[in-house]
Amino acid sequence: MKESIKMLPMYASMFGVPILMVLAVLSYAFYPIVSTAVLIPLIAIGLLFFGLIGAREVYLHKYTLKGTEIPYNINRTGEAARAIKDEPNGKKKLVIVIKRFDVSLRKMVVNKYEVGIDRFTTVLDILLHIKSKTDNTLSIRYSCRMGICGSCGMVINGRPMLACETNVLKNAVDDKIEVAPMQAHPLLKDLVDDFDDFFDKHISISPYLYKRDKNEQYLAKKEYKQTQAEIEEFLPYSYCIMCGLCMDACPVVNTNPDFIGPQPLSQVYRYYADSRDEMGDARIEKVDVLEGLWSCEYAGACSKVCPKGVDPATAIQLLKATAMGNLIK
Ligand code: SF4
Ligand code: FES
Repeated sequence: MKESIKMLPMYASMFGVPILMVLAVLSYAFYPIVSTAVLIPLIAIGLLFFGLIGAREVYLHKYTLKGTEIPYNINRTGEAARAIKDEPNGKKKLVIVIKRFDVSLRKMVVNKYEVGIDRFTTVLDILLHIKSKTDNTLSIRYSCRMGICGSCGMVINGRPMLACETNVLKNAVDDKIEVAPMQAHPLLKDLVDDFDDFFDKHISISPYLYKRDKNEQYLAKKEYKQTQAEIEEFLPYSYCIMCGLCMDACPVVNTNPDFIGPQPLSQVYRYYADSRDEMGDARIEKVDVLEGLWSCEYAGACSKVCPKGVDPATAIQLLKATAMGNLIK
């Protein structure tokens, strides 16, 4: 009841303006003289009144949580308003521990910050808040903020995860959350890794559909239709966003940098299993070497941490089985 009373100004401004406008048109249509002299000025005052209520509502909803200064954009006002209702005083404090690579000292340093969150705050929200309000030297890599670009991978509470998809409240332990850069990639600064080697490995497996006829490859003259069954052969492996989390989770990548790793191998299978590809067994032959398929020890950590449900561990076993089958042929 209390909530609906609070919403009255919002409803009044939403419905008041269109109702008054309809009244103005109708009154002018039926009583033009009375309308011009009396009704339209009154309606104009009413429009101004409801317009001001609407502006006040927009201003109030685009607020900053008191004491936490975590900004909310206009799309999140509804969520933030609900969080205010659920969390006492609309805020909860927790400590974020950031292990970051200090370039000048060439070693890891630890910073702790107390921050205010609500139940929708992500790790990336907090890091951006710290960067904008407390320490603008903090380096983070991110782009889409929605689990699509794969840029914000880091180690959160000891597990490789995407910062933009990690809810703080759900993952905090004893009101504390720890973040660190991924360790399987060379460190550049703070939470940012160097992905050159990762992309080189990815490129080395020819990650594109191959056609023997080069004209057809680049200027295809027909559609290559596939059945649902053919699509399902490769589809789960095509969801990779190249975040590199599987590489960071893999114990072999962490001990043997020459191992090509789960991400490129899953993509070998993705293209090998695609009925439109014409590279065939040559794809598998490229990785049928010790530093390729045969370094995988099937720990399965890659598949566990993948935020997109790609299953590199299974892809690698399927490649191994195919390679073995080719040997017997
Ligand atoms: S397989 Fe999954 S974890 Fe690995 S790079 Fe692709 S999306 Fe990221
Ligand atoms: S910012 Fe794009 S995946 Fe996190």
